[in-house]
Amino acid sequence: MRILIINGPNINMIGQREPDIYGHHTYLDLEQLVEAYAKKNDLEVKMVQSNYEGELVSIIQDGYGTYDYYIINPAAYTHTSVAILDALLAVNIPTIEVHLSEPLERESFRHVNLIESATIKRFAKHGIQGYIMALEYIGTLE
Ligand code: DQA
Repeated sequence: MRILIINGPNINMIGQREPDIYGHHTYLDLEQLVEAYAKKNDLEVKMVQSNYEGELVSIIQDGYGTYDYYIINPAAYTHTSVAILDALLAVNIPTIEVHLSEPLERESFRHVNLIESATIKRFAKHGIQGYIMALEYIGTLE
């Protein structure tokens, strides 16, 4: 089973970035957490991050035919990107949405979620552990 974890803008800055909201774990911590889980559970997991909407669209498109599942934290693009929604609908790869915080408990502009109709499950407000919850969820589907 092949899984691609896709992170949107500013996720590379976690740890430094508004730690009261996103926690103290760094992107490196997240990479190590995911890597350890993948190794332990014999999963093929790759994780990528981009600050660019078009690059995220290309990443989603390019995974077609390679990946069985996507886990995505589109970050701010969750609330704005029809292009990312369309890319996810185009590839039709089962996708789990993850957020470190709970956007629904924050500013009203974060209550808009343009990608949710292309996702099968959502985990929010669990910090970096949310990515592991998404991987565990995929395990229940197999
Ligand atoms: C986020 C929530 C978004 O509203 C925000 O723009 C982010 C991160 C989260 O993981 O909590 O960049 O997706």
